[in-house]
Amino acid sequence: MKYICTYCNIYAYDEEKGDLDTKLEPGTKIEDFPDLWLCPVCGMPKEYLQEVRDDIFSLKMTAYTETQHDTKDLNYYRSIVRKMLVGICGEFSVCDGQPDRTCTGQKFGASIGFGGAGQGKTFEANYNSLQRYKLKMRVIKPHKAPKMSTSIFDKKIAVPFMGASISGVKNSMNDVVPEDALYRGLLKGAMSSGSIGLVGNTPESPDDLGVNIVGENNGWGIPIFKPQSQERLLQLIRLADELNAIAVGVDLDGAGSTYWNASNKPVYRKSEKDITELVDSTEKPVIFKGIMCIEDAIKILDSGANACYVSNHGGRVLDGGQGMAEVLPEIANEISGKIPIMADGAVRTGFDVLKVLALGADIALIGRPLARMSISGGEVAVKMYYKYVKDDLEKAMILTGCDNLKEVNMDILTISN
Ligand SMILES: Cc1cc2nc3c(=O)[nH]c(=O)nc-3n(C[C@H](O)[C@H](O)[C@H](O)COP(=O)(O)O)c2cc1C
Repeated sequence: MKYICTYCNIYAYDEEKGDLDTKLEPGTKIEDFPDLWLCPVCGMPKEYLQEVRDDIFSLKMTAYTETQHDTKDLNYYRSIVRKMLVGICGEFSVCDGQPDRTCTGQKFGASIGFGGAGQGKTFEANYNSLQRYKLKMRVIKPHKAPKMSTSIFDKKIAVPFMGASISGVKNSMNDVVPEDALYRGLLKGAMSSGSIGLVGNTPESPDDLGVNIVGENNGWGIPIFKPQSQERLLQLIRLADELNAIAVGVDLDGAGSTYWNASNKPVYRKSEKDITELVDSTEKPVIFKGIMCIEDAIKILDSGANACYVSNHGGRVLDGGQGMAEVLPEIANEISGKIPIMADGAVRTGFDVLKVLALGADIALIGRPLARMSISGGEVAVKMYYKYVKDDLEKAMILTGCDNLKEVNMDILTISN
């Protein structure tokens, strides 16, 4: 018998042939699938498979095979990464942290993979809080191609969005590629898109791996270090200086990292004195990431830092927390125009980027989707995602009446409850 997955409407399965990619021998009947089997396209369980007529099946099978092997577009890389991340991420058409997703739910001490901490409520809140805002369409105005280039840290960039700092292939991404391959894809894909990539910091690899890959990329990138001991942070910042990184950063919310603590590599909260010392230790711009309240934003400003990065780590550290879009407007109200504001959390499309800018950020950052592109197709796939976001951002600016980024503000948004 022949089946398709009715959830994604892409995956096709022929009992007679089996599916060696998902370890199903020829002749394996649906009822004999392992209980943990998930559709390699959408990550849903076998209950979504339904029998189809032979003619429909062959159409579906052709489309499925072509998407995977011939048409090297974003969907091609998405289909690859679905297989790479089986069991931890379904590469759903919307990456929203909602409760029925493969990545969400309590992990009881096991790796959180691509999901969020605890029950995943903060990840969910990132998505929900951003989607409460709606874009107002305003189309009567002389036509102009929107100008979306901007500059940050004295560097001109083609688009007002960047790739967030990501790390941890071993713990969080089924150990599918070496850690440095992840970083290279993120940095090079950003650079060839006219933007700047960030890289993270994992206890699974030497803590200077990210900054060294930034160095390999002629400094075009930003390493974000975990809040380790002050002494080690000062050394890492010095190395970033030597390697001529565009800027350096510390994810202060990394103080809650389970992986670092579990690996006996302690991470700490930082005091105002600590963060000022870090800023004073280098000529490079310093970013503090993990800012989710006005009090912290003011302390960042007072430290002399060069950017305030509003983020809850994609909901991966503190569960039951606020979504990024819940706090960004009030933080922006306080510090906008004083230092650049960067913000991330469930930013997926060019439409989302426009909302985040309208809420007060200077730069929006994208995490999970770019990480998936990097592990499946490196620079090429990351670049495709940048283009996808850029094209929608352009469209969104045209349709909301924004000719340039200065015209992007709260007036283009409405909020629903
Ligand atoms: C698998 C994974 C690993 C991450 N590793 C780091 C890291 O090493 N350093 C860091 O500052 N943030 C890290 N983050 C958080 C991201 O920089 C970013 O804040 C978050 O992914 C944004 O949310 P989004 O993925 O929903 O776009 C990681 C996120 C994920 C999903």
